[in-house]
Amino acid sequence: MSRKPVIAGNWKMFKTVPDALTFVQDIRKTAVGTDHIEVVLCPPFTAVTLMSEGLRGSGIYLGAQDVFWEDKGAFTGEVSPVMLKDAGCGYVIIGHSERRQYFGETDEKVNQKVKAVLGHGLTPIMCVGETLDEREAGVTKKVVRIQTTSGLAGLAPEQAAGMVIAYEPVWAIGTGRTASDEDAQEVIAYIRGIIQEQFGAEAAGNVRILYGGSVKPENTTGLMSKSDIDGALVGGASLEVDSFTEIIKRTSETKR
Ligand code: PGA
Repeated sequence: MSRKPVIAGNWKMFKTVPDALTFVQDIRKTAVGTDHIEVVLCPPFTAVTLMSEGLRGSGIYLGAQDVFWEDKGAFTGEVSPVMLKDAGCGYVIIGHSERRQYFGETDEKVNQKVKAVLGHGLTPIMCVGETLDEREAGVTKKVVRIQTTSGLAGLAPEQAAGMVIAYEPVWAIGTGRTASDEDAQEVIAYIRGIIQEQFGAEAAGNVRILYGGSVKPENTTGLMSKSDIDGALVGGASLEVDSFTEIIKRTSETKR
């Protein structure tokens, strides 16, 4: 089963519109190939529309960092899947640990968002992962199982197959501490097993599962040489064109 690798950059709350457009100009000057790999940039909402124009014809996709589940209505401050699609997004990050930690995102909300996004033909990048306390207490798999099954509850097998899931151990995000290649592979294979139980072998074979948490050029090849790791969700190292394109290059070389 061959799964197309995904490298997604999560810019979080960084870059003004001019900064974002400079990045787009600069990445277009590099010869980074997008034939064997899906490259996605997830800027703040304010930069989405202009980046969509700037990326046209580049082969690089655009994603958002969050979404609300209703199409429209009196929901001050929220952005709907319809609006994201209209603005040029193909992907949406859902359930990032920072949203779970600071903005009250529960598994139920994640599930509502996943369903809404799929309903509009966008691809969710659903994040799961344990905290340091949970890892030390030995409950990583339990936590990841609950987040995965609740987040995907009620989906059809074809919908599950089209998902992107990002395994991001919370203790590895922005800390410079990466999970070892083996630990990341083990948890990601476990998540694939959950998809198999819940949705069958075909969905498990097709779903793309990424690793995230302090991914940088130097640790890319080791992580990507693991058979169940289908790419990366990159925070800090996606903010600079050089490090981001190096991660893309090393991933496509390793996964070829
Ligand atoms: P990091 O962030 O690469 O800066 O650790 C990853 C993420 O939060 O998606």
